[in-house]
Order: sequence, then C-alpha cells, then structure tokens
Amino acid sequence: MSEHNQVTMTTMEYGPDRPKAENPVKIEDLTFRDGHQSLFATRGRTEDMIPVAEMMDEVGFWAMETWGGATFDTMHRFLNEDPWERIRTLKRYIKKTPFSMLLRAQNLVGYRNYADDVAKAFVQRAAENGMDIFRTFDALNDYRNFETVVPVIKEYGKHFQGCICYTLTEPRMGGDVYTIDYFVQKAKDLEAMGADSICIKDMAGLIAPYDAYTIVKALKKAVKPPIHLHSHFTSGMSSMSHLKAIEAGVDIIDTCMTPYAFRTSHAAIEPFVMALLGTNRDTGFDIKHLAKINAVLEKEILPKYKHLLDDSKVSIIDINVLLHQTPGGMLSNLVNQLKEMDALDKLDQVYAELPKVRKDLGQIPLVTPTSQIVGIQTVNNVLFDDENERYKMITGQVKDLCYGLYGKTAVPINPDVQKKALKGYERGEVPITCKPAEVLKPELDKAKEDVKGLAVDLDDELIYALYPVTGKKFLKWKYGKEEPPEEVKPRTMENVKTEEDLVRKAKAGLLVEKPEKEVPEKTENTRTFNVFVDDEHFEVDVDEVGGPPAITYAQPVAAPSKPAPAPSKPAPASKPAPPPPQQPLKPVAPAPSPDTGKPTEGTALRAPMPGMIVNYIKQVGETVSEGETVVILEAMKMENALPAPVSGTIKTINFNSGDSVTKNDILCVIG
Ligand code: CO
Repeated sequence: MSEHNQVTMTTMEYGPDRPKAENPVKIEDLTFRDGHQSLFATRGRTEDMIPVAEMMDEVGFWAMETWGGATFDTMHRFLNEDPWERIRTLKRYIKKTPFSMLLRAQNLVGYRNYADDVAKAFVQRAAENGMDIFRTFDALNDYRNFETVVPVIKEYGKHFQGCICYTLTEPRMGGDVYTIDYFVQKAKDLEAMGADSICIKDMAGLIAPYDAYTIVKALKKAVKPPIHLHSHFTSGMSSMSHLKAIEAGVDIIDTCMTPYAFRTSHAAIEPFVMALLGTNRDTGFDIKHLAKINAVLEKEILPKYKHLLDDSKVSIIDINVLLHQTPGGMLSNLVNQLKEMDALDKLDQVYAELPKVRKDLGQIPLVTPTSQIVGIQTVNNVLFDDENERYKMITGQVKDLCYGLYGKTAVPINPDVQKKALKGYERGEVPITCKPAEVLKPELDKAKEDVKGLAVDLDDELIYALYPVTGKKFLKWKYGKEEPPEEVKPRTMENVKTEEDLVRKAKAGLLVEKPEKEVPEKTENTRTFNVFVDDEHFEVDVDEVGGPPAITYAQPVAAPSKPAPAPSKPAPASKPAPPPPQQPLKPVAPAPSPDTGKPTEGTALRAPMPGMIVNYIKQVGETVSEGETVVILEAMKMENALPAPVSGTIKTINFNSGDSVTKNDILCVIG
C-alpha cells in the first residue's frame, strides 16, 4: 500500500453506535480557550460556557482546553472574573473530559519570565484547582525554561505536553534555521524531559499540508510519545494540514465547535467527523449531538460576542500569513496599533521592517510574547527612527531579550542592536548565557507583602504577582473595595436585543426626525467644479451655506468620530470636515496644570502612543536629566520607558499607576 493511503474504510455503519475504529484520531476541543481567544479577544465568560458544558463532556473529546494563554489576563482585567474560579466552576459540569491549559513555561500566563518561586506556586495551584494537561511551550523553544515547571507538573501526577513552536523564515519548511532536523531534535529533547505527549504548535497557521505530513512522519519515527498537531486556520491551510497529519499517523488534533471555528481560530470538528466516518481513524463522535451543541452556541451565546468579531473583511482567510509568515493575530494587532496612532499609511513599511527586526533579534519564533516584542519594536522603528539612527525607542522587553532574559535565540542577536539595547540596562550591559530564571530573585514574598490585607489566599496573591497593576485593581473589585467600572460587566441578551432594535430603526430611518428637504436657492457664492470619474465628467455646483466656499479639503480628511446632530436647516450633504489639527509627537510647552487650569511653565512629556501607566519612576519635585526614564507606559502589553525630553524638575504628574492614556496626553511637566 502506498504511504499516503493509510486511512482506510473499515465499516459501512454510520450511526452513533458504529463499531469503534482501529486507531481513532483523538480530538482536543479548544472552544473554551483558543477558540474565543482567537475570534473574540478571549472575552468569553464562564457563564456562557456553562449552558453547553455538560453536553460537551458527552462528546468524547480527548481533552478540552479551558484555561491558560490569555484567559488569566483577560478575565481579571476586562471581565472582572476570578480566573481560578473558572477551573473550579467548569469542573462541576465537565466531570469526564480532562482539562488542558496553555502554559507559557516560565512566562506562565503572562508576558515575561517569572521567578522560580512564582512559577512553582502557579503550577501547583493550577494542578490543585483541577488542571490535568499542561500544554507547555517556550516562545524561543529554549527548554531550559521548562526546568522549573515540569517537575511540579510531574509531582502532581499531571500530563506534561511539550510543545515545539512551529515557525518559518521561508515560505515552506526549510531554510537555515527551522529545518526538519531542527524539529526532530526538539522532539527528542522533549522526550528526554519526560514529555507525556509532544505538540507541534503552529500558532500562525503556517504549516502546509505536505510539511505537516513530513514532520509528523519524522516525529512518529524519532520519538515514542503521542504526537499532537495544533494549527490555526488563519491562512486557510489547517484542515488540509490536519488531514495530511492524520494520514501520517498523528495521534491527536485540535479543533473547535463550528461557531468558534475558522478565521484566526481552528478547523471545525464536524467536517472531520464526516470525513473520517467509517475509516480506521473514525473519531467515533455523534454528529447529531455536536449539532445540538452548535445550536445552543449559535442562538444563545454567540449573539453576545458578535460585536467583537472582526467583520471588516468578507474573506475568512488571511493570505498575508502566507506572504509574511507572521501570525494573523500579530498582524491585526499591528494594524490596530497603527490605526490608534493615525499611522495606518505606514503598514507597508511595517511589513518591510518586520523581517529585519526579527533577524536582528535572532530569528525567534513569533508567538506570545515574542510576536508582540518583535511587532511593537517594528512599529517603534517605523514611527520613530530616522535616517541617522535605528532603534531609537527600544522597548523594555527588547532590552530583556537582548540581555538573555527570555532565553537563547535560534541564531545570535545582531551585536550592534544588542549593544545599543543594553546601554545603561539595569541588570547589566553584558548579556547572560545561563538559564534566565537563575538571575531572577524570588518575587513571591514581596508580592504577598504588597497585597497584605487585600489578598485572602495564594490564588489572590498569584493574580497580583503576575499582574501587579491590573491584578491589584481586580482584587479591589473582588473584595468590594472599589466599584468595578461599567465596561467589565457582562453583555446580556437583552442588551443585544435593544441594540439590534436601535440598528433596525436607524436603518429604516426611524431613529431621528428627518428635516423636511427643500431646495435652497443658488447664491452668488455658488462655484462650479469639474468632477471626473474615470472617463466620465460631471459638473457640480457647490454653494456653501453662510459664505463663500473655503477650499481646504484638497486632501482626504478623517471623518468626525461622532455623528453630527440633525441640522435645523438644510445643509450641503457633503460638507467637508476641516483637516484635523497637526498633532505633534514631540513634547511642547507650556502645558496647562490639571489642578489650576493655568499653564505650568515647563516642558510636557506627552504619551507617544495610547496605553496604560505602569508607574512613574520620578515623582513631583525630583530632578531629572534629559534622557532619564520618567514613566513606564504599557502599550500593546509592552513596557516603554519614556525619557525626560529636557533636564529639570518634575512640576506636575497628571496620572496614576493603572490609568489609561491616549496619544499626546501630557503625562508630566518638567520645568
Ligand atoms: Co493557538
């Protein structure tokens, strides 16, 4: 039999009681974690999982991914939900199917390496709260970063799944770095560490069907643990890749329930059930049961999240992934960040800069957090560099990477960039070569001390240890010390209905009283314009109400953010908006004092981008030298140290730790 024909028909019975296949492909469902993380920015609430939880437990999944990744961050920050509580709640409904979580090794469920004491305590609490399978990955595939967490997973008798982050520098597998030998070696390393299964983690949807076949064949031959394929749909290849992986003998694949599938999420389960029906790899699932779950999700749950779905494009495939070998989520983050900074026109420059930055930073895989690290540094370079100087604004995380704090990069970092990044770096100017956690001092005791009187147990303390600013805020909500803001409250089906009614009325023109239209008389100010559309020519008379037309709209201008109120008298339909005022990026003086409203003499330090204040390094009254860090601003989850634009004394500080700021907000004034 030829090699590609290993999936064979074994039965012609298709009902739910059909004979069990000889080697059924095992399925991990990702609906409750990666599914909504990919499609709805991880905003899925526990209360919206409960209605299908028991039915999901009946499907026969090998595991359900319910936690980890971005859930911990999003839940406490945006949903006012205790992340630990989710595991315990879902366990009450899902009693048979093991739970899987995504663990970013020493980064846990955050964006930096935490000290060993925090890492151990976190895994211990995850296991005790009910986690069964720890899908563990390191963004650099540096398995020294597994050395702290794996023994704890094993100590609790849990399943250690080791991941190989699948990444490319070329359109297909190969090149100088990410070759088949590279992946085989990584699998052997994981086997040697005691991996209970090995996952090829294709976070960007890069794996092409025939590469999936090659790699699964090679890994099945090289190592004993079961092989698992995790591949995002983003580029459109994943269903094909999964099928080829199944032909090559993959043990487990990842899918989502249909309403949570496709786009940047995963292949849907239902087509696999049908495709494999009656073969030796038949899942054994009852497609009618799956359809019942789909109906609940579609009708009762998804309407609450539909507004979060990116429906800006008709296409569900992002071919940019095929063109740039970059994760779709990373690309959409970049687009959003550029939009917020009024710099969307620089997108092509960002695409061109990205591979250069990645190469400078050691050709690292692009996965959380390295995708953000590379992405934001790329944006910074495009926005702030000039012909005389590259890497003008280096993020704190790039400095940490250059120091070796994330681990060993696939190829060495560009020494010039490394030297520049480490100039004046707080930990030292010489990069480390040891395991990163070795240079991190214990953090847990200090964290416990910081939230004494607020945190009740270790779970609370860990929320703070991982996310000091937003974690503390959450604990205050949790214990009634602060009122949670409106935006963290859940959307109900009633909200959805009210909004739909409004939209329907607006579309039908019933929402506002429309002014009676009467045609005004032409005045002497009327001017005639020639308008050319392709080869067609139109003559248009323009008569501005209240005076001669001012021709200030020679370039396209931004639409006003709020709809204008209904005019009391007829106005020209397309009255051009005035061009937006030039917003300087450089600090300007003087700035008004927030207390008195009067200008404070001095130079303002403005936010170069929207973000959240982590903390002020300098306080009012302290002196600073030009270039010294004054405030740390978190933007797109990366910390940016903002330097003093001039030397002087801090006159005013306008925000507190945890405050959100928009671009150009005056963060402080130096005089
Ligand atoms: Co994923």
